[in-house]
Amino acid sequence: MIKTEYLVIGSGIAGLTVAHLLSEFGEVTVITKGELKSANTYWAQGGIAAVLAKEDSFESHTKDTIETGAGHNKESAVKYLVENGPKAIRLLESIGVKFQDEPVLEGCHSIPRVWRTSDFTGQDILNQLIKVVQKNKNITIKENTEAVELIESGDECRGAFIRIGEKTELEPIFAKQTILATGGCGQLFGRTTNTIGSGGDGMALAVNAGLDLKDIEFIQFHPTALDKEDNGRYFLLSEVLRGFGARIINQDGIQFIQKFDKRGELAPRDLVSRTVFFELMNGPVYLDMRHIDARLIKNTFPNIYKRTKEYGFDLINDRIPVTPVAHYACGGIPVDLKGATKMPGLFALGEVACTGVHGANRLASNSLLEAVVFSLAIAEVIERSVPMDKDKDVEVKDIKIPVVAIEDIGQIKAYSQRLGKIMWKHAGIVRTSGGLEKAKKMIIEIPARDYRIQHRQLVCYKIIEACLKRPHSLGTHYISEELT
Ligand code: SIN
Repeated sequence: MIKTEYLVIGSGIAGLTVAHLLSEFGEVTVITKGELKSANTYWAQGGIAAVLAKEDSFESHTKDTIETGAGHNKESAVKYLVENGPKAIRLLESIGVKFQDEPVLEGCHSIPRVWRTSDFTGQDILNQLIKVVQKNKNITIKENTEAVELIESGDECRGAFIRIGEKTELEPIFAKQTILATGGCGQLFGRTTNTIGSGGDGMALAVNAGLDLKDIEFIQFHPTALDKEDNGRYFLLSEVLRGFGARIINQDGIQFIQKFDKRGELAPRDLVSRTVFFELMNGPVYLDMRHIDARLIKNTFPNIYKRTKEYGFDLINDRIPVTPVAHYACGGIPVDLKGATKMPGLFALGEVACTGVHGANRLASNSLLEAVVFSLAIAEVIERSVPMDKDKDVEVKDIKIPVVAIEDIGQIKAYSQRLGKIMWKHAGIVRTSGGLEKAKKMIIEIPARDYRIQHRQLVCYKIIEACLKRPHSLGTHYISEELT
């Protein structure tokens, strides 16, 4: 039987940052479904938005975040995020992350404000975090270990039932505090930048424990992924490329975003994604950097250049075919400004959480920032509860270990693909009331026995329900007819 003080579920930037901070106060166990490097953070390219430049201001970052979020953001949370941005950067620097001297520009930021280490900033940060947590004696990492259900005692969370590797029986990990940092749910959609593990697990765990989800209809679609499926995901062509002047052109070589928003390629992501989506009905759409100095491309985007080459395209000489894909859940498990959910003993952090900062459409590079800022917030509140928790024994006596159905991986893949097709078609970039109703019905009809499919089915259902409850388009939630 495993007991720990702090159980962190998930190992992206959110999970590992909070684990690093909590290790000051006690023993931390991090569980992760795959391997440490399988998190989405590993593929984050842009960077971290933060107010560090002399000519920048908290007011400006706050305004950009709220305008992009279509005014749906929680203002107090946005201010908290923005004002703690410099502290978040300092924390990452303290563990050895080396940011470049000058920030770069992404869509809807009034000035360059995105700090990066390279064109694979997520990878650089995660590698550094992994080094730090692996050396830490107060942190135990369990890879290939999945949380299947939260342990409830009265109204409190006391850890999770886990499944290790291919075992068929679950076992409990008891914890004083549990932090869900499982990432988002992009894999529920047929086309996504997200890694294979991003199927909304944390959201399902919370819903099964009686919590609700908030703003989950706001799924952000990124306009420029390379239009070539690769092992269940699509390679991102960062918005920073457009910040450097990359153009989006149609099959006739014409830029077309400007017709709909004068900011063109750097207009809000929801608008650019929709515009590309509609243009794709006429023919292929491309990202074009051929007018940009070749040396600048190679020096500024060495990793993207190399990866794109591996896919058979040359960023310097070719037009690169692009497609919009599911990228980020702006909503999730509602939490307060300290990352606490409504369930005592349970926190949610990063993409799985809904702090309210993103509103109806997330501003570029605010996501890594949110993960670090709210890790600091959780650590602060837990530090205060340490004396109170000192003698608390978390083990729940007479616990009943749940028995779950487990089907073979081929079946899981087949059902996941089915869900992905339904969600992409009916709950994707353009939604209609009829399509959403149809999707709801088709999703319920999937005979989910295995817990993994049940989790996915549940979150898909919640997304569709949330879409149906919002009769008007807002931010990323776009409906082409009003719901009645
Ligand atoms: C990108 O690099 O385009 C993605 C950054 C983000 O999702 O904020």
